[in-house]
Amino acid sequence: MTERTAICPGSFDPITYGHIDIIQRAAVMFDKIIVVVMKNANKSAGSFSVEERKSFIEKTVGNIPNVEVDVYDGLLAEYARQKNACAIIKGLRAVSDFEYEFQMALTNKKLNPELETVFLTTSAENMYLSSSMVKQIASMGGDISHFVPESILEEISNRLRKD
Ligand code: PNS
Repeated sequence: MTERTAICPGSFDPITYGHIDIIQRAAVMFDKIIVVVMKNANKSAGSFSVEERKSFIEKTVGNIPNVEVDVYDGLLAEYARQKNACAIIKGLRAVSDFEYEFQMALTNKKLNPELETVFLTTSAENMYLSSSMVKQIASMGGDISHFVPESILEEISNRLRKD
């Protein structure tokens, strides 16, 4: 049987427990998961470079045997085709996420008809969590230990406090 690969795309600026939960659950469902840092045209340049974001992801989910981490500057539908992926995995937090995610799923399906988008509902404890909230708290010297793992906590806090 062919290996079933799924893509977990996102800005990951930075990765949080919300993303990690989705990646861990997706890794159980598919043979291989590629977590890929991409550009969101609706968001500004971001606080961390793509290399920093990739490194944070590697430090948090890099130990899961069937998870790879990558960076791509282009269309998600095209990337999925190149990687022979059958699905995109997205986490849904609230109704407010839905309309935009639905639009992206339909567009990606148009661009790559063999590609499915699979939505996983976020765990209840991560409903409110977002990278922008984490950045805001860290930049004001607040404690972000409930939102990001120990392995990247200090790096993120120091970097944002400096800014
Ligand atoms: O974490 P985010 O910011 O919600 O992730 C959004 C992201 C990066 C997955 C989305 O903007 C994306 O797919 N960007 C790649 C470019 C692309 O394919 N755009 C068309 C999407 S329909």
